[in-house]
Amino acid sequence: MIEAKNLTRKFGDLTAVDNLTLNIKEGEVFGFLGPNGAGKTTTMRILACLISKTEGEAKIAGYDVSDEEDSLKIRKIVGLLPENVGLYDDLTAYKNLDFYGKLYECSQTQRKENIEHFLMLLGLWDKRDVMVGTFSKGMKQKLAIARALIHDPEILFLDEPTANLDPESSKTVREFILDLKREKKTIFLNTHNLDEAQRICDKIGIFNSKLMAIGTPEELEESVWSNKTVILLEQVTDEILKALDKFSLNITTHSNKLIIDVANPEKDNPIIVDAVVGAGGRIQYVTRLSPTLEDAYLKIVRMGQ
Ligand SMILES: Nc1ncnc2c1ncn2[C@@H]1O[C@H](COP(=O)(O)OP(=O)(O)O)[C@@H](O)[C@H]1O
Ligand SMILES: [Mg+2]
Repeated sequence: MIEAKNLTRKFGDLTAVDNLTLNIKEGEVFGFLGPNGAGKTTTMRILACLISKTEGEAKIAGYDVSDEEDSLKIRKIVGLLPENVGLYDDLTAYKNLDFYGKLYECSQTQRKENIEHFLMLLGLWDKRDVMVGTFSKGMKQKLAIARALIHDPEILFLDEPTANLDPESSKTVREFILDLKREKKTIFLNTHNLDEAQRICDKIGIFNSKLMAIGTPEELEESVWSNKTVILLEQVTDEILKALDKFSLNITTHSNKLIIDVANPEKDNPIIVDAVVGAGGRIQYVTRLSPTLEDAYLKIVRMGQ
């Protein structure tokens, strides 16, 4: 549905997007994860035909972003929530959507149907005649997404949809994105929020000018993970640390907890536990530390620097 091949965009000497190759399938929610200045917005703007590429190619539903005629077709099937949303505070929710529907040349019937559908889906139908200026940030952002959907596009580009929202509003927006996923929209989501990516994306690309890694959240977590064993003790003593010294393990201590990198947990854990007990350690728990997307993200981004 969204394909990029060696896509590159330069601004003078700066290469904002460097040789990006991607393939996003229909109905997939793709999280484009990267730090500020990584080139996420630039990539999205190329894919949505707002700016040109420097090299490489990109296709949306088979249409070429750099072909003039194709780009008109792309605009029809793509909806974009930009970084800075423009809604009219002194128009009602209904009239805001109706206005944008007209800009997209949607027929009156189509506008009526879509506005009703999305306001219902957003839980804003009751507020359809209320001025948008009185809406909370979360409600405004949901309405802005509905605005991007007014012409019923198959593909939705969302540029950091929960940036600057409080946790409550972010949750509302995330739930709305999940509703759209259920409606089988293909969604390209720019974010630097790991938690958000993990909760709603089928696939994640970690990007910092270059694509550093791509996969499901689980695949990314596993890819950089070394096994870690956590031993919770009554007390961590010098004797215990000395007893573990001879195994030359990577150990971190947090108050009464030891976190140990182990190559082969089934084989190593019993030996470690024996050593700890032998040194007088009183063990309360032994557990495996689960990988997180944050570990993966930080490791992958740092590897590229
Ligand atoms: N129109 C432009 N002219 C010059 N530099 C730009 C322009 N747009 C973006 N950049 C630069 O490209 C890099 C990537 O920006 P951007 O795509 O906005 O990153 P992100 O969205 O990941 O924060 C940044 O260094 C930014 O300053
Ligand atoms: Mg951006």
